[in-house]
Formats: sequence, structure tokens, C-alpha cells
Amino acid sequence: SITAVRGRIVFNSRGSKTIEIDVVTDNKFIGRACAPSGASVGRLEAQSFPENKPEKALAAFNTNAKKFIGLQAENPQAVFDTLRSIDKTDNYSTIGGSVAYALSIAAVDSAARALNVPLFKLLKPAKPYKFPFPLGNILGGGAHAGPGTPDIQEILACPVGAKGIVEALEMNFKVHAETRKVIESIDRRFTYGRGDEGAWAPNVNNDQALEIVEKAVRNCGYTLGKDMAIGIDFASSSFWDEKNNVYNYARQGIKRDTGEQIEFASRLVRDYKLVYAEDPVHEGDFESMAVLTKKNQKTLVTGDDMLVTNAGKVREAVRYGACSGAILKVNQAGSLYDAIKFAEECSKNNIRIITSHRSGESVDSHISHIAIATGSRMIKTGVLGGERVAKLNELVRLTEYDLIEGMNNT
Ligand code: PGA
Ligand code: ZN
Repeated sequence: SITAVRGRIVFNSRGSKTIEIDVVTDNKFIGRACAPSGASVGRLEAQSFPENKPEKALAAFNTNAKKFIGLQAENPQAVFDTLRSIDKTDNYSTIGGSVAYALSIAAVDSAARALNVPLFKLLKPAKPYKFPFPLGNILGGGAHAGPGTPDIQEILACPVGAKGIVEALEMNFKVHAETRKVIESIDRRFTYGRGDEGAWAPNVNNDQALEIVEKAVRNCGYTLGKDMAIGIDFASSSFWDEKNNVYNYARQGIKRDTGEQIEFASRLVRDYKLVYAEDPVHEGDFESMAVLTKKNQKTLVTGDDMLVTNAGKVREAVRYGACSGAILKVNQAGSLYDAIKFAEECSKNNIRIITSHRSGESVDSHISHIAIATGSRMIKTGVLGGERVAKLNELVRLTEYDLIEGMNNT
């Protein structure tokens, strides 16, 4: 059981303060986790810090730290119940979602060390264990990069033809590297600038961006949609103009109403054979999501800001038929137990799970285990940057467990 806990303020990959927590099991097994943070944040996400102050989260944690002593570290529900007895808000605004995240994951991390098993096995996953396809952010803009970059937040590579995880990672690295060359060939002054998640951030518009990535895929010798597929995170809530009911592609000087946005997203799905389309409409528009989901059955039409890793939101989406895919970000939900409940709701309703990093990250790699444990079809965790590669390398280490068989095609 948990014998000690300790919290501290550290820094994430953007240089912002965040909460890290150590949990000690049986006086000697130290688990540690650090809360990530988003830039394009869904309205209904857990609130990372009370009053947006990391110091207040640490103070709230310290005040209540003793309540976690004696709990079973391997039981996410025990940590959840205790968190809930302290924080009765529905978005963890009393203790902070960062505390819920770091404490709940550090607890299972320490349990995994105490029991000497890989963390994913502790989360009672559905067998057989499979590797998720890595969704790599290749080129982007939006909230993750500066002016002049595309309004679309992320153009992603998904190595659908890969037979194993190492091959899948190599394919993503190759496309990422080739994309830089394609950008250079059309912009001799390209500075190699990259956004928060390591994706290239060139001065191009949405259409040029997609053409560049498609060309890079072909230059690598891959057949689009067969060996290597493309996905998009529109993160469209970040350019939805609620007052005027339009999607404002400010960098390109284009406004699209809801019908035009559905048309635009569908055209991209068709032209680029997208396997994946995340938040193509704003977070409140379940009806339009349902239209897109129905129309594009070969594509995972995925809710991120729309679902905020919330089981209740999944039930709402199911009533509309709004999503075929769901992003799982533990820190949107708060604690690991909240996220597990969300994953169960998705699986029950045949919605594919995509476990995801945040744009502000640490070098932790727990999400690689969470992706396997939840039977995720994909893991979205970038391509370059030490904090992204940390998660990818953990997947490589996990190939040493013969328990995991091949890629998750289901
Ligand atoms: P965020 O972006 O971590 O900045 O919210 C990631 C995403 O929108 O998927
Ligand atoms: Zn997103």
C-alpha cells in the first residue's frame, strides 16, 4: 500500500509550471508522474489548477496528502474515491486536474514497480494486447505554431501498412524527414521551424500543407492510404467564431459556415483518403459530427474537444451517432480512473480509442501503457522532440513482452 506521497512544481515542454507527484509503495517503490497541459483546451476539460495557479494545486495536494496514505496503489478507483471525497466539483477545480492526473498515475507506476510487472498489465486490459498505430504530427499550425502557419492544427501520418511497432515508427520518422525536404523545395527560406509537438510549422496555407505531406508520403515510396495514411486534427473549436456562426480561417482569409465546413472536411477526406479526422466541427455541434460520421465510414471521425475524455459525453455522442473515434487524454478527465471509465464506455459502444499526449508534455511514458491497456487503435504522440520520442521508445521497449501481438487493426 501507499506509504508516502510528495508533490512538487516542475516545468513542462513549453517551459510552463506543472505538478509532479511521487508515490511510494511499501516504503521503497517510487512511482512518479507529471501532469501535461494542452494549448487547444476543450471547454469542459478538468481544470488543471485551482484559479489557474500551480501553487494552489500544490497547496491543495499538501493539505490532503495524508488521506492517500494506506490506499492500494494498484487500485485507480481507491485514489479516485479519495480525490472525490476532497473535491466535489465536476472538473477537479478544488484540488486541480493536474493533481488528479499525477497522483493517480504515480500510484499505479509505484504499484507496477512493487509488483515488478509492466504498468499496462495492472490496468486489467482486454486481451489480446495489441500495439496501437502511432499517429505522428508531421506538419501543423493553429494553436501550436505562429502566424503564417496553417489554420488546421495538425496533419498526421498513420503507418497503416506497418506490420510491427518499430517499422511503424520508422515510417513516421521517414515521412517527417521527407516533409522537411519538400517544404524546402518550395520555400528556400524555410527555417526548419517546428510547433509545440515537433511538427514542421512552415509559412503555407491548409491546401499547400496537405499537398506537401501527400508528396512526402509518395516520395518515400509509400502508397497513400495503403502503406501510409494521412489524418487531420482540425481542432476547429479554436477557429469557430461563435458570434457569427462561422469557421474563421483567418490565416487564409476564408470563412466557412457549418454546411461549408462539412463540405470542406468531406472534400479533404476524399482527396487525401484520410483515415482520421479529429474535431472537424466545433465541440458543441454533435449533429454535424453525426453527418460526417455517417458520410465517411472508412474514416475515424474523432471527438477530442467534443468528448473531453468524459463518459457522459460519449453517451451523448452515441445518441447522435456523432463519432467513430474518441481521443483519450487522461488530464482532460482528471484521474486515471475517470479515463478508464471513459474507455469502457467507448469500447461498449464500438467507438475506437486514440490515446493522446498534450502539446505541453513531460518525458513520462505512461500513456504508451495506457494506450495498450485500453485497446487503443492509435496513439497520438508526435514524432520529434524528446518528450514525444520518450513515449515512442517505451513502445519499442514493450516489444520485449511477447504478450503483445502485432498491431491493433480492429
Ligand atoms: P493540445 O492539442 O494538447 O494543445 O490541446 C492536442 C489536440 O488538440 O489534440
Ligand atoms: Zn485535438
